[in-house]
Amino acid sequence: MHAFTGLWGPGTTRAPPAGRLLLLLLFLQAATRPSWGDPADSEFTSLPVRDEMIAKYSNLPLETHNISLTEHVSTPVEKNITLEKASKVELACQLTTSGDVNAVNVTWKQGDELLPNNFVINTTGNTVYTQYTFTIINSKQMGDYSCFFGEEKERRGTFKIKVPQLHGKNKPLITYVGDSTILMCKCEGCHPLNWTWYRMNESAQVPIDTHLDDKYVINGTYANETKLRIKQLLEDDKGLYSCHAVFQLGESEDHVELVVLSFLVPLKPFIAIVAEVFILVTIILLCEVYTKKKKQGPDDGKEFEQIEQLKSDDSNGIENKAPRLRKTESVDQ
Ligand SMILES: *[C@@H]1O[C@H](CO)[C@@H](O)[C@H](O)[C@H]1NC(C)=O
Ligand SMILES: *[C@@H]1O[C@H](CO)[C@@H](O)[C@H](O)[C@H]1NC(C)=O
Ligand SMILES: *[C@@H]1O[C@H](CO)[C@@H](O)[C@H](O)[C@H]1NC(C)=O
Ligand SMILES: *[C@@H]1O[C@H](CO)[C@@H](O)[C@H](O)[C@H]1NC(C)=O
Ligand SMILES: *[C@@H]1O[C@H](CO)[C@@H](O)[C@H](O)[C@H]1NC(C)=O
Ligand SMILES: *[C@@H]1O[C@H](CO)[C@@H](O)[C@H](O)[C@H]1NC(C)=O
Ligand SMILES: *[C@@H]1O[C@H](CO)[C@@H](O)[C@H](O)[C@H]1NC(C)=O
Ligand SMILES: *[C@@H]1O[C@H](CO)[C@@H](O)[C@H](O)[C@H]1NC(C)=O
Repeated sequence: MHAFTGLWGPGTTRAPPAGRLLLLLLFLQAATRPSWGDPADSEFTSLPVRDEMIAKYSNLPLETHNISLTEHVSTPVEKNITLEKASKVELACQLTTSGDVNAVNVTWKQGDELLPNNFVINTTGNTVYTQYTFTIINSKQMGDYSCFFGEEKERRGTFKIKVPQLHGKNKPLITYVGDSTILMCKCEGCHPLNWTWYRMNESAQVPIDTHLDDKYVINGTYANETKLRIKQLLEDDKGLYSCHAVFQLGESEDHVELVVLSFLVPLKPFIAIVAEVFILVTIILLCEVYTKKKKQGPDDGKEFEQIEQLKSDDSNGIENKAPRLRKTESVDQ
């Protein structure tokens, strides 16, 4: 594995010069045009050539991933790999077994299709190591790549290669008529070539065109996010919206549900009742405060007397207790 990375130099993960890659892709696209002869024929001959040239002439970033299997774990091991642009990929699996390593049969599959036997197999001690190296340049090459180790029982490791997943909102976004709102989608550490928003009606996805309708503004602060701003919300704006990201190796989408509440129309009778109750309660409270004040005003003296009386009651209590206390003391003695 280290020998391999050496081939690509220390800066294996540096991005390819965009201009050069683009030129190369354009050239290759021209090269695969049917005008070169029989369409089927040209496709047959040019595809491997194209892969080879891209691998040879462009400095694609390198993705290395590995899965370790043991004979004790019989469930397949899966690993997710996120990839958005053309890359060289090195997938490695290793199986540690107490059996005979030389009897282990190794195969690789893309989906359900057997891959050609051009992978590395290498056994050291009680581990079997296999590595499959290839170049991903289009969306058809995305998907599941599995290594199989055939013993008495088969062991499988699967690499699931996907474009970045988008994250909209799981919960509906609740807004009110007349407001404006922002729907957002993002993906982690991704750089889509293009973001688009769609509105879903019963039958179709309708692209949102900000030039046709200034109700919508699409903007994002970073490459890894997109924001759809909808102004002057109407009840008709409710529903499902979807955001799409286009990557070199495929597309990804997610949904955001928008709920637009018109709180005024259905709530009018309710609001009227609440308002009435509120006014009544206020009036009652005001009356009570007013009558209390009115009572308090001239009764200031009376209240003073009452307090005095309470105080004297208290002291009476103490006086009443005092003899009792003395009594118990005398009993003790
Ligand atoms: C053989 O496998 C080991 C890991 O088990 C790895 O480190 C080594 O590079 C492999 N050798 C070759 C020639 O691929
Ligand atoms: C296997 O992958 C893990 C991370 O998933 C990494 O730490 C480890 O170095 C890799 N092993 C090899 C032999 O490449
Ligand atoms: C891989 O991704 C799927 C969904 O895309 C998720 O359900 C699963 O848990 C992920 N597996 C790992 C090992 O992260
Ligand atoms: C190894 O796997 C291949 C493909 O599944 C199969 O054709 C072959 O018979 C297997 N060999 C052994 C020894 O199991
Ligand atoms: C999006 O990109 C910005 C700037 O590069 C970064 O700060 C932010 O963490 C990224 N967000 C996600 C979800 O990757
Ligand atoms: C993004 O994609 C849409 C639909 O495919 C297209 O109409 C639009 O021109 C693209 N925008 C950019 C900047 O590539
Ligand atoms: C959905 O949108 C399509 C495209 O704009 C339009 O032709 C169709 O009539 C719409 N359907 C409904 C039910 O609004
Ligand atoms: C997008 O938003 C940023 C900040 O939120 C703003 O500076 C920029 O002008 C906006 N771009 C457009 C085209 O509205």
